[in-house]
Amino acid sequence: MNNFTFCNPVKVVFGKGTIARLSTLIPRDAKVLMIYGGGSIKKNGIYEQVIGALKDFRFAEFPGIEANPHYETCMQAVEFVKKEKIDFLLAVGGGSVIDATKFIASAVPFEGDPWDILSKGNEIKRAMPLGAVLTLAATGSEMNERAVISRVSIGKKLNFASPLIFSQFAIMDPEVTYSLPARQVANGVVDSFIHVIEQYLTYPVNAKVQDAFAESLMKIIVEEGRKVLANPCDYDIRANLMWAATNALNGWIGQGVPQDWSSHRIGYALTAQFGLDHAETLAVVLPGVMQYLQKEKEEKMLRLGASVFGITSGSISERVEETIKIVELFFRDMGLRTRLNEYGIKESDLDKLIEPIIQMGWKLGEHASIDAPIAREILKLRL
Ligand code: NZQ
Ligand code: ZN
Repeated sequence: MNNFTFCNPVKVVFGKGTIARLSTLIPRDAKVLMIYGGGSIKKNGIYEQVIGALKDFRFAEFPGIEANPHYETCMQAVEFVKKEKIDFLLAVGGGSVIDATKFIASAVPFEGDPWDILSKGNEIKRAMPLGAVLTLAATGSEMNERAVISRVSIGKKLNFASPLIFSQFAIMDPEVTYSLPARQVANGVVDSFIHVIEQYLTYPVNAKVQDAFAESLMKIIVEEGRKVLANPCDYDIRANLMWAATNALNGWIGQGVPQDWSSHRIGYALTAQFGLDHAETLAVVLPGVMQYLQKEKEEKMLRLGASVFGITSGSISERVEETIKIVELFFRDMGLRTRLNEYGIKESDLDKLIEPIIQMGWKLGEHASIDAPIAREILKLRL
């Protein structure tokens, strides 16, 4: 196991009716800005619950954060925060709203051009305090220190991370996820599964706690994920998926182990250039990464096949092949497409798709061995 230092300071408040606890979690004298998305919270009762809990607070609202949040919209919020002298940010939504809130929290006190936080990886020195009411189980953003923002005017999607952007608290009521459209439920299942994969499917370093934890999370995500679309209002399924998704990317399973993240990075351009949902990009790219890097990932691939999907017989190459197939099949069973041509993307589009990798100079994967030409080969396998 590799060395690590780990601290996750997010207070989790989990379960039915927990939105009412908001008033005890935000400082009483704060002026709160409630940040939310396109309006789903006004149709499913979440908005009323939040407003009810905040009735004794001074507060304002900033709606309109897009899925794959736009830099341009976040910057409007930054102006609003300064003008209204807001001192606490409350994200009410999925990963997009929480990520946008993290970026706004960083951009308000930032000296210089806030785009540099994303494009140059300039470290932030301060951030506003924020809290989160989670409405979609997928990204783990409610309990991690990362955010991903898109600048639509130039077709770029970039991420940043800082311990200063951990949410102070995460309210997680599984009942609020009942209203999610099936497509978003499936996206959440696939995204959280692949978060585990990015931190697990590398090479072994004898990290028994992390490996066993990761395997349990994947088993739960596959089992409950296969049930949830037919049982959208089953509390136990929703609760287990929600908590699994948080644990998939709250830092625990990634400590002391090599990490990959190439599927995520290669996928950014598919969202920025072709508008695929985040999880849709991953369902296309991951099987290609598994196939292209099967030798490097062989030991973990065999463990994944055996422990999560019960693949225990056949030669090594047969078991590896079977594991790649069953992972792709799981994504298809969840209703996601797994091939570029299903989105109308052709070989002639590949050069543009790898441009961000060239521009950012990314060397991806646990061995930093995936450069732009290799990413192109991986994408070619997915046509
Ligand atoms: O905009 P609203 O009206 O809120 O509707 C949203 C949105 O259209 C809707 N929704 C959310 N909760 C709902 C609901 N509809 C009905 N009932 C509810 N309870 O769902 C749609 C998608 O929401 P979004 O927040 O975009 O989804 P998700 O949570 O999957 O977040 C995706 C974003 O997170 C980033 C992705 O790149 C993408 O931009 N990621 C963030 C990560 C992180 N911070 O650690 C890691 C991830 O790998 C990922 O990259
Ligand atoms: Zn993801």
